[in-house]
Amino acid sequence: MIELSVEDLHLDYGDTPVLKGVSMDLKQGEVVSLLGPSGSGKTTLLRAVAGLEGPKAGRIKIGERVVYDGVARNEVRAEDRNLGLVFQSYALWPHKTVFENVAYPLKLRKLPAAEIKERVEAVLGQLGLGHLTQRHPHALSGGQQQRVAIGRALVYNPPVILLDEPLSNLDAKLREEARAFLRELILRLGLSALMVTHDQGEAMAISDRILLLNNGKIEQQGTPQEMYGSPSTLFCAEFMGSNNRLAGKVTELRDGAARVQGEGWSLWGKAAAGVQEGQPATAVIRVEQVRLAAENTEDNAIALPLVTSMYLGDRWEYLFRAPGEITAGKLALRAYGHESLPTAQHRLSLPAKHVWVYPSA
Ligand SMILES: Nc1ncnc2c1ncn2[C@@H]1O[C@H](COP(=O)(O)OP(=O)(O)OP(=O)(O)O)[C@@H](O)[C@H]1O
Ligand SMILES: [Mg+2]
Repeated sequence: MIELSVEDLHLDYGDTPVLKGVSMDLKQGEVVSLLGPSGSGKTTLLRAVAGLEGPKAGRIKIGERVVYDGVARNEVRAEDRNLGLVFQSYALWPHKTVFENVAYPLKLRKLPAAEIKERVEAVLGQLGLGHLTQRHPHALSGGQQQRVAIGRALVYNPPVILLDEPLSNLDAKLREEARAFLRELILRLGLSALMVTHDQGEAMAISDRILLLNNGKIEQQGTPQEMYGSPSTLFCAEFMGSNNRLAGKVTELRDGAARVQGEGWSLWGKAAAGVQEGQPATAVIRVEQVRLAAENTEDNAIALPLVTSMYLGDRWEYLFRAPGEITAGKLALRAYGHESLPTAQHRLSLPAKHVWVYPSA
């Protein structure tokens, strides 16, 4: 069942178009992340779904109910959309206790006191906050405050929750724990969630599907595996992982594969849409797919001197670069490994099945 659907949504701020025809849906029990660079329209889309911004055209449906229709010109007010909202600055009421903060949405809905108590205590228990009900926000850690904000959004059992960077105020380590906790909680409660983040690792960890926004449009959507493993554009490839990029020219196209040639190298890779023979192209390979080649028998290999290595704890990161002055298009490759390497010439293998070729912009 589809819990939320957005069709061809357009929204302007003044004369500036910000959402330029966004369509997406969220199925029951699904966690979907909205990912994209700063200013791409993530928060705007979430606010439009919540009813906090007025779109110009398109349609938004929550469950069976049309809450916005640009043609019929009808609109359901934000407070009647029955969504759970968790925003970036999770603004708890400082003078209310944890219990009172979470109870507030139920009080607004005029539930009887005994039921309020029961539901608030159940939610706080699930969030691991049962022992903190009488504390005030200033006496909580950042992660605890975040959980109170999530509790406040969940307490009236909204079928859909919208979260805008809900973990952004946590430090890296706490954040990694919180994302596992949040995903587990959403699944356990059988909710559907649309979550904004600009952290691709977080989006992959937490969601069933990712929508990548680029300048007000969806660039690509898919499962984390599809987005990371088969990006259809250079933008998506660049956004989803750590890459090596090699700029050259397409010299051959055959069965969906393209050969790109640069100064002193040539590589085969999978050709993306729009790649043409004789045209400039960029070959891209994830840093972790570059291997130290055993012998010089392999195709798709490049010999380069090691310039520097960095010890990262769980692995080494190597930088290889052609000798001489560092210029803009200079051939350089990064790779990972498990030992310290001598600063000599090395042969690097870039397996064709891991190389993507995109038309150069
Ligand atoms: N109230 C507003 N009035 C005018 N322009 C706005 C308003 N809110 C946002 N914008 C503009 O709309 C664009 C999209 O903003 P939005 O907040 O949706 O980006 P975002 O993807 O959430 O970015 P971030 O990752 O930085 O939070 C930006 O160019 C922003 O400057
Ligand atoms: Mg934002």
